[in-house]
Amino acid sequence: MKNNKFCEMIGIEYPIIQGAMAWIADSTLAAAVSNAGGLGIIATGNMPVDLVREEIRKAKELTDKPFGVNIMLLSPNAEEVARIVCEEKIKVVTTGAGSPGKYMEMWKSHNIKVIPVVASVALAKRMEKAGADAIIAEGCESGGHVGELTTMALVPQVVDAVNVPVIAAGGIGDKRGVAAAFMLGAVAIQVGTRFLAARECNIHENYKQKVLTAKDIDTVVTGRSTGHPVRVLRNKLTRKFQILEKGNAASEEFDKLGKGALTKAVKEGDLDNGSFMAGQIAGLISKEETCKEIIEEMFDLVNLLEKINKDIR
Ligand SMILES: Cc1cc2nc3c(=O)[nH]c(=O)nc-3n(C[C@H](O)[C@H](O)[C@H](O)COP(=O)(O)O)c2cc1C
Repeated sequence: MKNNKFCEMIGIEYPIIQGAMAWIADSTLAAAVSNAGGLGIIATGNMPVDLVREEIRKAKELTDKPFGVNIMLLSPNAEEVARIVCEEKIKVVTTGAGSPGKYMEMWKSHNIKVIPVVASVALAKRMEKAGADAIIAEGCESGGHVGELTTMALVPQVVDAVNVPVIAAGGIGDKRGVAAAFMLGAVAIQVGTRFLAARECNIHENYKQKVLTAKDIDTVVTGRSTGHPVRVLRNKLTRKFQILEKGNAASEEFDKLGKGALTKAVKEGDLDNGSFMAGQIAGLISKEETCKEIIEEMFDLVNLLEKINKDIR
């Protein structure tokens, strides 16, 4: 998009970031998004560092467009991944679960744009002060780890609180969501759940089908009582979590139940014991498409804006 601050900052065509998704957002998905004009992101979660480097190099073979790497700062490998992104000349780093402050100087000296994900105004301000180039404000409609505020409430408050560009995330599934995000003051969007249904997304077919057939009320947040709230699609595992929460079980019991659950969903498609992370917008997503088709639909805004223009006169 011409004159879009975020597109100019990163050198991309559409102001969309494909959200990091641990064990899902690999080089194939990231490169497909970047080739389609967005910003693909490789999620590193708690991946072994050799695999991180391998995925980065694969992505470089698949695209000559910019792509980024997401670092979960609580991961035991965070420090090493923070160095790898410099060595591999990555252009953009998004961060979750903590403050990237201690890496900021190193990343800046390597011309890396740093974009933390936040769920509150206070954290957005802290990140701006620490040197963030932009902020992703993520509402609790989103899949994966969530905060308390909705996208609708969070984004305009973050926009008013900081001077750097704000990217809206959480619950954006089509061009109406994109238009709404811009109305709230965001300059770009980050999307996770819709990309779960991308043809280039390498998840087990059962996972994809679960997203494609989900209804509006099919997600639930587990882990609020343990301080690690995660939005996932309901199944036997989420019911077990809810029972543990009601019984105020010890955190070891949660850890035992959750161990390997994401892999069970992503790789094995284990419908009962897998953790099928997805956002509330899953109910809107009903077909598998390529990343290019998804992005082009989301930014087909002209007709929509004409309709809005008519409706508000
Ligand atoms: C399956 C899944 C895994 C996720 N894993 C991560 C992650 O590893 N790191 C991160 O910063 N965000 C993670 N997220 C959040 C996304 O990057 C993105 O911000 C979010 O999906 C946007 O909301 P939406 O799901 O409504 O599109 C994950 C989301 C999903 C759906």
